[in-house]
Amino acid sequence: DELKHWVASLPKVELHLHIEGSLEPDLMMALAEKHQLELPYANIEEVKNAYDFEDLQSFLDIYYFGASVLKDEDDFYQLMWSYLLTCKEDNVVHAEIMFDPQTHTERGIGFDVFMPGFKRAMQQAQQEWGQSCLLIMSFLRHLTEQSAIETLQASTPYLNDITAVGLDSGELGNPPEKFTKVFKMAKELGLKRVAHAGEEGPPDYVWGALKALDVHRIDHGVRSIEDPVLIAFLIDSQHPLTVCPLSNTKLKVFKHMQHHNVLQLLDLGLMATINADDPSYFGGYLNDNYFAIIDHLPIEKHQLEQLVKNSFNASFMSEEHKLKWL
Ligand code: HPA
Ligand code: ZN
Repeated sequence: DELKHWVASLPKVELHLHIEGSLEPDLMMALAEKHQLELPYANIEEVKNAYDFEDLQSFLDIYYFGASVLKDEDDFYQLMWSYLLTCKEDNVVHAEIMFDPQTHTERGIGFDVFMPGFKRAMQQAQQEWGQSCLLIMSFLRHLTEQSAIETLQASTPYLNDITAVGLDSGELGNPPEKFTKVFKMAKELGLKRVAHAGEEGPPDYVWGALKALDVHRIDHGVRSIEDPVLIAFLIDSQHPLTVCPLSNTKLKVFKHMQHHNVLQLLDLGLMATINADDPSYFGGYLNDNYFAIIDHLPIEKHQLEQLVKNSFNASFMSEEHKLKWL
């Protein structure tokens, strides 16, 4: 309908996107064939049927397995290039893209393989249609802090290409405080900070990300609603929440899109934004996430406008660059 056409045509920003979560089944099958790897799927249909999740962990198992087809520089180039083409398609003028180095270094694939691939695609998109994007290096929270510290050290030759550090993977049992030291090291290196919190984990994990990790933004954060003191804090501080509607329903954080609380968070005055998370696994890129809330929530044009505006303001782009769009 009309609202959807209007949103689709607006220049938008993506702030919560895992590049490994943009691996489409056709690229996964092609890379498996290229590297002669056995997949437990006979065809694309079977891959898509496997994307039926109970919770975050059941998704993560399939997501890490899918990433195992990524082996050489060109694979990482193809992955990034495919995602950046969807940015052009969806009118995502600026994207802050997370990557999980440990998903690859644990398999013996180093920064010298994936970083050149990512950078080549990003430079090409910048040259061909002026795509703006930057990288967020995310640590896997189910691994040790020592492993995160080693990852930060291994990234040294590429620090100029990395804007921020993040924290993802299985939330429950892995509170933000586990990573206090490595986030402090990242801050001292001049890196910005974000962390997944309050997706499956309790509001206390959002407090932990704010206090122990000194984050600029919270990824997800939807469970903040359970703590009125935290909500008051977030209204006052305007720490952005990078909310991902399709992800939250696919992983059963909310039973149905009608129960999603993003509109409530926005109306309370929190700095909420709409994002795609893992578009290949959750059924859609950024426009699809906007379409999902248009279809299922009583959202009005001015609220959509606010969400889009928030995503520019919540981004790490320079103030000068923001002015160009706002
Ligand atoms: N949560 C935690 N870890 C993740 C996610 C997520 O939504 N996507 C990819 N890794
Ligand atoms: Zn995420």
